[in-house]
Amino acid sequence: MSELYYPNKELFKDAAIKSMDEYWDLVKQAEEDYEGFWAKYAKEKIDWFKPFTKVLNEENAPFYKWFEDGELNVAYQCVDRHLATRKNKAAILFEGDNGDQQTLTYRELYYEVNRTANMFKNEFGIKKGDRVVLYMPMIPEAAISMLACAKIGAIHSVVFGGFSAEALRDRIIDAEAKLVVTADGAFRKGKPYMLKPVVDKALEEGCECVEAVCVVERNGEEITWVAGRDYAYNELIKSQPVTCEPEVMNAEDPLFLLYTSGSTGKPKGVQHSSAGYILWAQMTMEWVFDIKENDTYWCTADVGWITGHTYIVYGPLAAGATTVMFEGVPTFPDAGRCWRMVEEYQINQFYTAPTAIRLLHKTGADEPSKYDLSSLRVLGTVGEPIDPAAWKWYYEEVGGGRCSIVDTYWQTETGGHMISPLPGATPIKPGCATFPLPGIFAEIIEEDGTPTPVGEKGFMCITKPWPSMIRTIWGDPDRFVKSYFGDCKKDGKPVYFTGDGAMKDEDGYITITGRTDDVINVSGHRMGTAEVEAAIKKHDNVAAVAVVGKPHDIKGEGIFAYVVLKDDEGVADELETMKEINAIIKSEIGAIALCDDMAFVPDLPKTRSGKIMRRILRSLVKGEKITQDTSTLEDPSIVTKIEEIVQCKC
Ligand code: WTA
Repeated sequence: MSELYYPNKELFKDAAIKSMDEYWDLVKQAEEDYEGFWAKYAKEKIDWFKPFTKVLNEENAPFYKWFEDGELNVAYQCVDRHLATRKNKAAILFEGDNGDQQTLTYRELYYEVNRTANMFKNEFGIKKGDRVVLYMPMIPEAAISMLACAKIGAIHSVVFGGFSAEALRDRIIDAEAKLVVTADGAFRKGKPYMLKPVVDKALEEGCECVEAVCVVERNGEEITWVAGRDYAYNELIKSQPVTCEPEVMNAEDPLFLLYTSGSTGKPKGVQHSSAGYILWAQMTMEWVFDIKENDTYWCTADVGWITGHTYIVYGPLAAGATTVMFEGVPTFPDAGRCWRMVEEYQINQFYTAPTAIRLLHKTGADEPSKYDLSSLRVLGTVGEPIDPAAWKWYYEEVGGGRCSIVDTYWQTETGGHMISPLPGATPIKPGCATFPLPGIFAEIIEEDGTPTPVGEKGFMCITKPWPSMIRTIWGDPDRFVKSYFGDCKKDGKPVYFTGDGAMKDEDGYITITGRTDDVINVSGHRMGTAEVEAAIKKHDNVAAVAVVGKPHDIKGEGIFAYVVLKDDEGVADELETMKEINAIIKSEIGAIALCDDMAFVPDLPKTRSGKIMRRILRSLVKGEKITQDTSTLEDPSIVTKIEEIVQCKC
């Protein structure tokens, strides 16, 4: 049992949940009257245009519906309604890579969202239900465009700016997007980088659905313009009216799609709802981040991931908070960048990924001591398990032993936090996500629903539907059911399986042990091994390939490929092939999926029926002893051969 840490209680005097007694009380309330629990918050937190009368509809499970006859508008919830009480409060504080700064008050944000919404509607004919792909850097226009879509009822699909043209194209086609919003590019580490050329390339084939491309000017670099297709955002916006009636949306109308990797096949378009999503985004801002009226909150994620959606844009704005948007990287111009910003903006909540914490710890362990970080109250982490060493540095050196660390466990599909400490209540443990949030029935079970014994690994399942859950996979409801409700049952009924393993200790604290499927977390980015393998197979000389995660000091997991070549002419050939393979990955997926290392092996460990025994490959790359039974392999001797090759590398 690891020791408990107690953040300074004084800092959380006014927290929404102030003690473990209050926490257990809320858990009990949710257990005793599940619908009543959620109805109370939904009434209190959302400014409904038309109140709901039904809470949860389970008739067509697992296609659950929440608050289904209620009407609202998420942009109204995030912006318009705040004008009455905080029109001159900063909504977004933007800091560019090179230090340029911009403030948007709620009033200014309101006008910008309205003008952009009018532009989408008037210039590009975007209507309720149309899909708009955003391929954007971290600039205010990204958030504005998301909210503008919400205002008129269009469904946005943000594609992370690090994805390649091929990956962008797949997502545009799958969503049948009518409009693509992008920028010329942006700045990273003091230099311009480009996005528009990637959009041009993506649109070369198969994207007939796209009628227009709207381009924000950010870095001013030269780009090519396609007449009749490409339009300048900065020009068109000038003549747009500053008011725009919010589209009346049903609670269950889709708010956005966000593509994410699964264990098989192409990325899935995770579809989120309007009311349930925004409710939980707002509630977790209050519960987990203890957001208060005068706080300045900073999440370092990119808007291209779910963390950027829920905890840079929707959650903070729904809560009426001030959210910082940062274009740059934590190590430029030096490893003190984040801490200088914490001091300058007097940040109260700082939320980042373990990979960034490890990087900053490694490259600038003493940097935090050079700045005044006394404004900080809550430090958050997300995206992958955090190792105790990085946790302790974060707690002591960044948080001064005073702040709470909220190790928030959740997923693209869950919409918001599922398991997390509550800063005013939960004594914390390094590397531990602690307890499910009230209302969330996150349980560690076996496939048949029996609780996994304390100290053993089981499946992390969520056994009751919750408002911010994924509604379906865009265009593929069967895959939705199979992907999430096919593996585990409780009381004979299928329950949501996260794909993660988890373990409870004798104090009831939950630790997430990582994915149990073929998904790896590279620098907190989710990557399907199947996608990387599909890219590698495009190399002419590759006969077979298996990709696994390999522990990595900074990234958490790196990508490791076992490659069987059709024709292997020795080491020089292998080095060349490795470069070529990575070039293919870069063009098919993007630089985030590059292989850190490869082993060229004579064959893969296959069963007689041809199934690759990945568990063996995962163990080999970690240098673990092979405990699996290898007698069922077609050629058991292959394991020793691969082991020798891998040992030379590790
Ligand atoms: C992993 C990111 C350990 C997990 C919000 C999950 C975590 C996947 C944690 C989802 C955490 C997320 N501790 N692992 N606190 N948070 N994960 O969809 O494997 O990009 O399934 O959502 O990240 O990644 P996604």
